[in-house]
Amino acid sequence: MEFRPLRESDLTSAPAWTAGHELRPDLWRGEHTRAVALETDEIVAVGIMWTSRVHGDRYWVDVVVHPAHRRRGIGTAAVRHLTGLRAAPLPLMTRAYVDDPALAFADALGARTIQVVPPAESTTTARAALRADPAAIAVDAVDRTVIEAANARIYEWTHASWSPVGPAFADALNEDLWDEIDTEASSVVGDATGRVLALALVYLDGEIADVEFDGHVSDPHFLPVLARLQPTGRWFRLVEIPV
Ligand SMILES: CC(C)(COP(=O)(O)OP(=O)(O)OC[C@H]1O[C@@H](n2cnc3c(N)ncnc32)[C@H](O)[C@@H]1OP(=O)(O)O)[C@@H](O)C(=O)NCCC(=O)NCCS
Repeated sequence: MEFRPLRESDLTSAPAWTAGHELRPDLWRGEHTRAVALETDEIVAVGIMWTSRVHGDRYWVDVVVHPAHRRRGIGTAAVRHLTGLRAAPLPLMTRAYVDDPALAFADALGARTIQVVPPAESTTTARAALRADPAAIAVDAVDRTVIEAANARIYEWTHASWSPVGPAFADALNEDLWDEIDTEASSVVGDATGRVLALALVYLDGEIADVEFDGHVSDPHFLPVLARLQPTGRWFRLVEIPV
């Protein structure tokens, strides 16, 4: 087996077994972050690495192995190859649902859980449970810059202990905010001076009847609210893969 960089022509003739895996280049750490594994000129695996503009502290990694060639060490070899292509000495990370083989693969590589994300699917009818207090009002009644600043502050401290934000992260974070949230369903609580005490953003995701309530168990405000919504769905873990 040998590795070579992924070429643009590989994307136009990408094998069907890569479907669902976006083979995008890293946008800000160089182009040498995508590779294919070959056996007798046949592509048997693709692997990519990329960094987030918001965090930049770890490389996300995704590897797909041809279904007929799995459990032969090719996935492990692909991760090792990508590790050698890193421009910065950062660890790798991935995420998957707890019962997904992708996590078993990551665990076999020595993965360490860095965050747990509980089930997130709820319905918009559950929103009343989140705005029981009259001090909580719709986000669209408040100046947008105030909401953006609060969103950035919350994001910064909920990630500070396990994946700190990078410089100028706030602009990237808020770039599409107003296209992504339901400003009537999202709630904010302010004090007498207008300082934001609490913010609950509702993100639009297709069907208005259904919402995803996304958060991390390390956020002390998240679990009590989650328990009131009683969402359904699958748990997933974010893991760091040591290099
Ligand atoms: C996950 C994936 C990349 C693994 O590729 P692979 O070439 O089979 O991986 P390896 O042979 O290197 O497996 C190394 C170890 O990971 C674990 N592992 C891999 N696939 C597993 C599975 N389906 N179930 C349980 N454990 C698994 C095992 O411990 C395995 O060692 P073993 O075969 O000696 O038991 C492959 O199944 C795949 O392409 N899946 C779909 C895409 C995907 O989920 N990618 C995410 C990867 S970050």
